[in-house]
Amino acid sequence: MSGSKPVLVSGVKPTGDLHIGNYFGAMRQQVELAKSGKYTPFIFVADYHALNTMQDAEEMRRRTRELVMAYLAVGLDPKEVTFFKQSDVPAHTELCWIFDAITTMPYLMRAHAFKDAEAKNKEITVGTFNYPMLMAADILLYDAAIVPVGQDQKQHIEYARDTAEKFNRIFKEEVFTLPEPYIMPEVAVVPGTDGQKMSKSYGNVIPLFASRDELTKAVMSIVTDSSGGRPENVFAIHKLIRDESELNSVYERNAGNYKALKEMLIEDLDVFITPMRVKYEELKRDPSIVDAALTKGRQEARAVSEAKMQEVRHAIGVA
Ligand code: ADP
Ligand code: TRP
Repeated sequence: MSGSKPVLVSGVKPTGDLHIGNYFGAMRQQVELAKSGKYTPFIFVADYHALNTMQDAEEMRRRTRELVMAYLAVGLDPKEVTFFKQSDVPAHTELCWIFDAITTMPYLMRAHAFKDAEAKNKEITVGTFNYPMLMAADILLYDAAIVPVGQDQKQHIEYARDTAEKFNRIFKEEVFTLPEPYIMPEVAVVPGTDGQKMSKSYGNVIPLFASRDELTKAVMSIVTDSSGGRPENVFAIHKLIRDESELNSVYERNAGNYKALKEMLIEDLDVFITPMRVKYEELKRDPSIVDAALTKGRQEARAVSEAKMQEVRHAIGVA
C-alpha cells in the first residue's frame, strides 16, 4: 500500500456538529491533498482520542458515523484513501504503550494542551495527559512524511518527531520516519453569524449540510452593522464560494441593501451545499455504504500497521 509516494496521515475527532468553518478550514484541504495524487493518504476518525471527552456510547456511535458520512459526502473516495476508524486498528494503542515506556512525565507535562487543561484546573485524565503519545503512534505507524493539521496541532507533530527519533536511538534501528507538519493555510478563518470565528462552542454556525430553511435562518441572523456600507460578515462568508472581484461589484451595486445581499448568499450557499447534502442524505439512507468503506479501510490499515508492528516488536526484543 505505502508505495513510493510520501505518506500523508490525518486524524479527525468525531466531536462536533460540522459547520462550514470545519469544511473550508480543514476538510476541504485534507480531501484535496489526499486526492492530489502526490501522496499515499491515510485519513482516520480518531475515536479513541475523542473518548477522553465523549463518554457516551450512543453519542460515540452516532458522531463517528456522521463524520464518516461527512467525509464521503464532501468527496473523499475510499478507493483513493485508506479511510478508517482508529479503534478498528489495535496497533495504534499497542504502539502507544510502547511509546509510554520510553517517554518521561516531565516531557509530556510541557505539552500546551496539558498545560491549558491544568490551568483550567480540570481533573485531567491519564488519556488526556497521554494524548500526544497516541497521536505519535497514529502518525508513525504509517511512516507518515506529512501530517496536515491546524496550527494548534503543531506541537503534537513535534512530539511525534521526537518520539520517532528517541525510539530509533534507543533501539538502534531506523524503524520510524520523521514526519513533518503541513500547517493548513488559514485561507479561511471562517467567521460565524456574529462575526467571531465560527465555532460550535459559540453557537454562531452555518451547518455544513444545512437545508434551505436552515441556511435562511442562519444567514438572516448574520449580524450587520448599520453604517450602510458593505456588510463585512456577509461578505466574508460569501467570498468563500464566489470570486472576490465579482463580489466586489455586486456588493457595491447593492450597498446598504443587506436583505438582497443575504438572499444572494443564501442562494449561493444552497447551490454549493446541495450536492453534498444530497450525498449525505443518500449515505444516511443506506448504511451499507459506510460499513463497506470502513471495512475496506480497516483491512488496509491493519495490513500496513501490522507489518510496522512486527518491525517494532523485533526492534524492542519481544519478538
Ligand atoms: P470548533 O471550533 O467548531 O470546535 P474544531 O475545533 O472541532 O471546531 O475544528 C476542527 C477543524 O476545523 C480544525 O482543523 C479547525 O482548524 C477547523 N476549523 C474550525 N472552525 C473553523 C473556522 N471558523 N475557520 C476555519 N477553520 C475552522
Ligand atoms: N489531535 C488532532 C486534533 O485534535 C486529531 C488527531 C488525532 C490527529 N490523531 C492524529 C491529527 C494524527 C493528525 C494526525 O485535531
